[in-house]
Amino acid sequence: MNNISRRLFFRSGAGLGVGAFLLGGFKSVRSQTGGSIPVIITDHGNETGKTAATTAFQILAKGGSALDAVEKGTNIIEVDPEDVSVGYGGLPNADGVVQLDSSIMDGKTYSAGAVACLENIKTPCSVARLVMEKTDHVLLVGQGALKFAKSFGFKEEDLMTDKSRRFWLRWRENLNKDDDWGPPDHLKKRDEKTAGLYDGIDHYTGTTNVLAVDSNGDIAGITSTSGLAWKIPGRVGDSPIIGAGLYVDNEVGAAGATGRGEDVIKSCASYFIVGQMRAGRSPQQACEDALQMIVDRYKKVNPNFFPGEKFVALNKNGEYGCSAMSGRDNPDMVVVNKSGMMIHKGSVLIK
Ligand code: GLY
Repeated sequence: MNNISRRLFFRSGAGLGVGAFLLGGFKSVRSQTGGSIPVIITDHGNETGKTAATTAFQILAKGGSALDAVEKGTNIIEVDPEDVSVGYGGLPNADGVVQLDSSIMDGKTYSAGAVACLENIKTPCSVARLVMEKTDHVLLVGQGALKFAKSFGFKEEDLMTDKSRRFWLRWRENLNKDDDWGPPDHLKKRDEKTAGLYDGIDHYTGTTNVLAVDSNGDIAGITSTSGLAWKIPGRVGDSPIIGAGLYVDNEVGAAGATGRGEDVIKSCASYFIVGQMRAGRSPQQACEDALQMIVDRYKKVNPNFFPGEKFVALNKNGEYGCSAMSGRDNPDMVVVNKSGMMIHKGSVLIK
């Protein structure tokens, strides 16, 4: 990361003013204003994210619940084999085993459910929902979570795709050059089949957040992920930790996190964002506040270190926001409400 012992800027996206600030103090951050309900958002700005949000919005448009909408939307992202950060096709742990984390929260009943290190089930958010609705527990992990899922009829399936397996083998090859796990770079045949195969191999984290407010004003959210690629087996990130990767409060709104989970857990970022909104900050401002809060803590230890979080938030009025710690481009977020589907460009803390 660049040396950032200089001015930091939130580089704001479409529809947003430029909010410049110095480390430790905002000068100004302009917010997206005006919202409507029902509304659904996802941080997944790709085609699958658009399909997920527009499909799930149909539930909201017919008067359905935010809970049903976020589950439907997340399921579409989870089963996408091309997505290496969530569900089926997600990048595995160091042993080549895909271990999924997910949480769900219902702002109306103040209930939550989550699973961690869940193997062989493509749609962990649906298992998390069952934890929330069928038990008085909040978090099930590993074999216990799998047994629980199977007891409700979920089928075990291989979550590795050819693509995720090749990425993992490539990582292993780099881990120990003496092992015969694939051809060295200079011998690798680049052809149509392998073009772009290793692009994005350094994309170590990735997650989806899907948040919604329904026409009754009830709010729900889901966070789902395959977690940090090549993680130590058993590692749990922020996504299934209520308050870290997800938080929902019907009186205020919802927030979700992506990026390096360890930083998000230590900062209780989603809870913090909802707290900021409760105190009057807009969703956009609240996401930026959370990034600044994390930077402020790290800068005491290492002024040049900046983690890689992205936050999304939605308030009870249907206003939304999104901000990322760093990146060349402003982060995308899909928003669907009565005006249709749009890509909201969030802000970036570090240029
Ligand atoms: N945010 C996903 C993870 O770190 O596991």
